[in-house]
Amino acid sequence: MSEPAPAERVIAFSRPWYDEREAEAVRRALAVQTCGDGPASRRVEARLAALLGARRVLLTTSGTHALELALLALGIGPGQEVVCPSFTFVSSANAVLRMGARPVFAEIEDRTLGLDPEDVERRITPRTAAIIPVHYAGVAPDMEALGAIARRRGLRLVEDAAQGIAARWRDRALGTLGDAGCLSFHETKNVSCGEGGALVLQDPELIARAEIAREKGTNRSAFLRGEVDKYTWVAEGSSFVISDVLAAILEAQLDKLPQIQSRRAAVVARYRQGLAGWAQARGVRLPLELPDRQPNAHIFYLLYPEPRLRDLALAALRGRGIMATFHYIPLHSSPHGRAIGADPGALPVTDRVAATLLRLPLHARLADADVERVIEAVQETAP
Ligand SMILES: Cc1ncc(COP(=O)(O)O)c(C=O)c1O
Repeated sequence: MSEPAPAERVIAFSRPWYDEREAEAVRRALAVQTCGDGPASRRVEARLAALLGARRVLLTTSGTHALELALLALGIGPGQEVVCPSFTFVSSANAVLRMGARPVFAEIEDRTLGLDPEDVERRITPRTAAIIPVHYAGVAPDMEALGAIARRRGLRLVEDAAQGIAARWRDRALGTLGDAGCLSFHETKNVSCGEGGALVLQDPELIARAEIAREKGTNRSAFLRGEVDKYTWVAEGSSFVISDVLAAILEAQLDKLPQIQSRRAAVVARYRQGLAGWAQARGVRLPLELPDRQPNAHIFYLLYPEPRLRDLALAALRGRGIMATFHYIPLHSSPHGRAIGADPGALPVTDRVAATLLRLPLHARLADADVERVIEAVQETAP
């Protein structure tokens, strides 16, 4: 079969970068250990802790499970409320529901697309136990203001840093700014192993609780370190521990992190350069470059001036084989958001951003020619 002509070739929205290095890592893991908390997991956890500047990193089966594990270890439960954005992936709110607590949706700020501290403050009640800031596109919201609210009101701060690996806020790694940080290594993330995540912690007591909850409520981790002579059921927990085979893939991905990041950053730089003039002329907003944030080239989005223009652009790009996407149906207006009676009132920034945002293909294997094709198509298909 002959290759399709370049103009017809589909440009994937996202694509992981796996090669012989991951295959070799898997082969090695298969020969050593396949269940969790093994040598590959330990090495990756230590490496991530050093990279982030964290006391402890616990690998988990997903970013979703990292969020659930964080809330479980913090003791969030029935009768409590947790403030999170509506403009986020479902897991930020599902994790709260899974604890029997109630997610309370707050507005986002236009410049970071993360939680608006003033609106968060308005939504705090005597039942509020925690705030979950989401680092959308690897960009932190106003963590200084959110941290101050959490301290003043005695609330826990759980960062949803699922999109945040290798991104920083004022020179600190995302995931290390609150009581707990949750990373994702899903196939679509900058560093991936198919399905995986990590919980980032600083407080020794919380670390001890999370280690137990991650291992089905047992003290197996302490046993593996030789701290107890047999392991047993000591608390509530579940199975959040990742297989060492997946940890081995992560290890190979961390070896490649500089290359992954530099390619992604080059694509973002070219998108910016190629689209800046067009965007200005059309009233389209590109992600802002904020001096105290170092994002990680995870997402490159365009904010169109009207929903109709975004929808037309999305359809036109897809018609040309360019798999652009949108983000997100706001959780408060999703079927389940309505079913649980989440009614935050008007969230105008959330609604506008969700209706006008378009994400361009972005991954480390995007060829220069494909980047040029996307830039050209965005300009040509602009209604
Ligand atoms: C903001 C956000 N939170 C949570 C998650 C859940 O991560 P995972 O897919 O690893 O469960 C994601 C992943 O898409 C995400 O983008």
